[in-house]
Amino acid sequence: AIPPLDQCLNLYDFEVVARQVLKGTAWAYYSSGSDDEVTMRENNNAFGRIWFRPRILRDVSTVDYSTSLLGWKSSLPIYITATALGKLGHPEGEKNLTVAAGRENIIQMIPTLASCSFDEIVDARTHEQQTQFYQVYINSNRAVTEKTLKRAEQRGVRALFVTVDAPQLGRREKDMRIKFDDVGSREQVENKDNVDRSQGAARAISSFIDPSLNWDDLHWLRSITRLPIVLKGVQTWEDTVRAAEMGLSGVVLSNHGGRQLDFARSGIEVLAEVVPELKKRGLYSSNFQLFVDGGIRRASDALKAIAMGATAVGIGRPFLYAYSAYGADGVQHAIKILKAEMEMDMRLIGAPTLKDLVPEMVDTRALNMH
Ligand code: FNR
Repeated sequence: AIPPLDQCLNLYDFEVVARQVLKGTAWAYYSSGSDDEVTMRENNNAFGRIWFRPRILRDVSTVDYSTSLLGWKSSLPIYITATALGKLGHPEGEKNLTVAAGRENIIQMIPTLASCSFDEIVDARTHEQQTQFYQVYINSNRAVTEKTLKRAEQRGVRALFVTVDAPQLGRREKDMRIKFDDVGSREQVENKDNVDRSQGAARAISSFIDPSLNWDDLHWLRSITRLPIVLKGVQTWEDTVRAAEMGLSGVVLSNHGGRQLDFARSGIEVLAEVVPELKKRGLYSSNFQLFVDGGIRRASDALKAIAMGATAVGIGRPFLYAYSAYGADGVQHAIKILKAEMEMDMRLIGAPTLKDLVPEMVDTRALNMH
């Protein structure tokens, strides 16, 4: 028997419950990182090397943690990032995330490799103003991507997040040890029978992703859409500066939840090197936003990233675990936990609004010492 939802006090608790309820294949796919999972662990560990420098005697009777991402309102500086194969965990799949995000007014990024169809996920919105972004894997067959993005634009998706850290899928060995059994419709996989099922769920579905993708293709991408473009999976200041110079709308400093290159650095560590380089070049502005994902489990993790210059952070696995165990209500409860933590932390840090979180409020001296 699983504990009642209100016994989940923090985001880690959902992982414990999910491990009990998920099938072996689903647990392997969701929880795995690549190779030795050093990066996956480091994503969370890195936040443990950042300390607060709280300010006292500020009026924190009311705190406001609402913000906007790429101009779109969010009740939290936290969004639900794209994670593939939602139905492995629950029959309603990604729709659980849509419903919870809508009820709590946060933004969901819809994955290319969702188990539910794109239209099902859009139709699950709880209200008309609900904002959704779309995560894009560029298909070797560009016509497929073009058609998908036209549809996304028509259905009111507000931004495109192009994943750039996965020209080949990482080896997630937990996942590979458990043979892939089919999990239902996936629009991008044209010939499912050609898929090699011995390589785990991830490899089996990703064969269409184009490894030839390069900077020039972004010109093509811009020519076929009016939506803002953000690169997801940037890992150095050099590539961030290049994206800013190209006039893109932002980057997600991310290593794909530690599922791609093992020994990639955490997004939060990359953020520390990115901000000064952007500032030096006059490229640090609200026209080019920085996002971070990987290992974020507490509101304090998000606040550290914001103090260091990020607009918002993405969370992946905890929301998957929450709905695997409790459906949309679980995800909603997880979001409420983050809001309660956010309120308390901002009071204790002495920052009544997110704008009050300045770089001086964090001590990052230990961040680069491993
Ligand atoms: C992912 N992630 C991901 N990213 C992406 O761009 N396209 C995808 O299809 C997926 N699929 C996916 C599946 C699963 C099961 C996980 C756990 C992750 C990466 C995701 O967007 C994000 O970068 C990480 O999940 C963030 O780390 P945490 O919050 O899971 O630690």
